[in-house]
Amino acid sequence: MSDTAQKLSKTTVALHWVVGLMMIGLLAVGVYMEENEVYSLYPIHKSLGVLILLVVLPRVINRMRNGWPEPASQYTAIENILSRITHYLLIVGTLLMPISGVLMSAMGGRGVYVFGLELFGKNFDAVDPTKIAPINESLAGLAHSLHGWGGDILIVAIALHVIGAVKHHVIDKDGTLRRMLGKSI
Ligand code: HEM
Ligand code: HEM
Repeated sequence: MSDTAQKLSKTTVALHWVVGLMMIGLLAVGVYMEENEVYSLYPIHKSLGVLILLVVLPRVINRMRNGWPEPASQYTAIENILSRITHYLLIVGTLLMPISGVLMSAMGGRGVYVFGLELFGKNFDAVDPTKIAPINESLAGLAHSLHGWGGDILIVAIALHVIGAVKHHVIDKDGTLRRMLGKSI
């Protein structure tokens, strides 16, 4: 079944919540581990960050194929523009974060592992093999900046997105949130 104005497909609803909750978890762990230098969390963050691609890719393909769901009720023009911009930021961010994460780790020479399974090996310095050597320092640096800024922008976009969803449910009392919970409106 595809999305209609009255009901969203099970695929849309399932992909939204699986990806959305994983993204919130990865953003929280990412900020926490980096601010507090909790290096034991890095491998878990990186593993789940790679695995999320298995659901992000079908989600993005599904969205590109089917277009955005029609609004659940009559929104103002400003609301339509703001929600469209936010949805673009959210969907681009869900792709950009795992890709920039993989790129910065791989090009930084630190390797990419999924719960111990090597996807991209570590790169050791030729002179001092106890040290890690970047493979492409400028690409790793660019990916690192994208990962940091992307994370900050996403956190703001998610906050606006959730405030919007609560506003529709509590103030406008329309079916926007109920429809994303799989119900007909
Ligand atoms: C949806 C997936 C991901 C999200 C939402 C995410 C989010 C974040 C966030 C918010 C930070 C903190 C950035 C900061 O405070 O400046 C972070 C740090 C980090 N992430 Fe991710 N990440 C994801 C995937 C990945 C992947 C796939 C990798 C590597 C394979 C990765 C590796 C790292 C590393 C190494 C850091 C710490 C960087 C440092 O210490 O300078 N992340 N991530
Ligand atoms: C508790 C958190 C969340 C709530 C309550 C929520 C709620 C909603 C609701 C009600 C809609 C439908 C909007 C409409 O019909 O115009 C929606 C759509 C959407 N949400 Fe969320 N959301 C949450 C978290 C997230 C997160 C973390 C992301 C991505 C990082 C995300 C990405 C999207 C996208 C891209 C859409 C557009 C429709 C689609 O692609 O399926 N959401 N959300």
